[in-house]
Amino acid sequence: MTTAAEFAPLLHDILQVQALLGCSLSKKRRKETPCEKVSLRPLVLKGDVHYQLTYHYGRQESHENLPPQAAAERVLQLLETDFRQGYFFTPKADWQVLVSKKGVWKVLRHPPSRAAQELKGGHDRPKKYLLQTGTPYPFLVELGVMNAAGKVLAKRYHKFRQLNRYLEIVQDCLPYLEERRGRGPLRIVDFGSGKAYLTFALYHYLVEQVGLDVELVGLDLKEEVVSFCNNVARKLNFDSLHFYHQDIRDFQAQGQVDMVVSLHACDVATDYALAQAIAWQAQVILAVPCCQHEILTQLDPKLEPVLLEHGILKERFASLLTDAARAKLVEREGYAVQVMEFIDLEHTPKNLLIRAFRQLGRPSGPADREYDLFKTSWGLTPTLEVLLGERGGSA
Ligand SMILES: C[S@@+](CC[C@H](N)C(=O)[O-])C[C@H]1O[C@@H](n2cnc3c(N)ncnc32)[C@H](O)[C@@H]1O
Repeated sequence: MTTAAEFAPLLHDILQVQALLGCSLSKKRRKETPCEKVSLRPLVLKGDVHYQLTYHYGRQESHENLPPQAAAERVLQLLETDFRQGYFFTPKADWQVLVSKKGVWKVLRHPPSRAAQELKGGHDRPKKYLLQTGTPYPFLVELGVMNAAGKVLAKRYHKFRQLNRYLEIVQDCLPYLEERRGRGPLRIVDFGSGKAYLTFALYHYLVEQVGLDVELVGLDLKEEVVSFCNNVARKLNFDSLHFYHQDIRDFQAQGQVDMVVSLHACDVATDYALAQAIAWQAQVILAVPCCQHEILTQLDPKLEPVLLEHGILKERFASLLTDAARAKLVEREGYAVQVMEFIDLEHTPKNLLIRAFRQLGRPSGPADREYDLFKTSWGLTPTLEVLLGERGGSA
């Protein structure tokens, strides 16, 4: 290790994967720095793991509670500007970081000196990630996310976190799916699978970690990517994972589809995916929309001149309107819909996830009325509404 940037992935790993138990930053760089040391401990706030930083000034203390990502950034910053030593305690190892006066970073690993403990502020323990660093999962090695020793490559760290987040979201859906799906394998379609990091992770998790019988299909418009993914799937012996070179619109499912996922499928491809999922009455839908253009062209700036004056605001607002319309349209087709954050905004602005669960007998009346009001006040006709109308849905 020689720089802060090179230490950053390990620090994120320590905080978010290795379940940090505590940390202290000491050895002030300058005498005049008022803060003598900083300690850090995990705690649970509103159900989520946070880190509390305690700044020690002689007999006085001040506190700051931050989510893991922000806490990691603050620790890095403190090591760069105020302190020359960091000590991080995790259940598996103690990590010591020494920063020389010339800014050279040295990282030492010691045997663990602290046992895992219950978190204050709740009953949760620090998150145990579904994919762990240090475990060489063949699919992640094959896709260039990890090396053969199981170390996540620095430039792929965000992808690794995204995969873990995605699998957590899928994990939450499993009890619902298991209760409602029919007999036989769990059948999933991934629309716009691209290079398929998420598709492989999904298959690995459901088949190899949970032990389910799964048939998973990935679909994409890029022929060479589809062929690459099929080769990788065969190499890994992922026997019921298949990729097809086909447009979402043309895909005909053979039999019941239990879950549809579509992550960052471009523009209206998300609408095609949602329309297919609704037509199949899939029990669970996970859609992370990507770039959106159609509503932008339909939006009349005169409706909200201040809000829509600037291009960037108009673009973002159009995206929000598009996703709001999608969520309400899916709801009125008989789904309970959640719109949630997929992954931190800093990695991508495309971070909204629409998660929907099919609800038998859910009355569509209220959603119908809400959607009509919304549509009329903004003067919009989103693609999903048109597609559902063509298929004889509520539109
Ligand atoms: C940004 S990539 C996302 C890949 C992957 N789902 C992920 O999140 O990492 C979007 C993919 O959607 C595919 N795509 C876009 N429109 C499509 C359509 N109509 N039918 C099938 N695939 C489509 C593109 O070829 C591209 O590979």
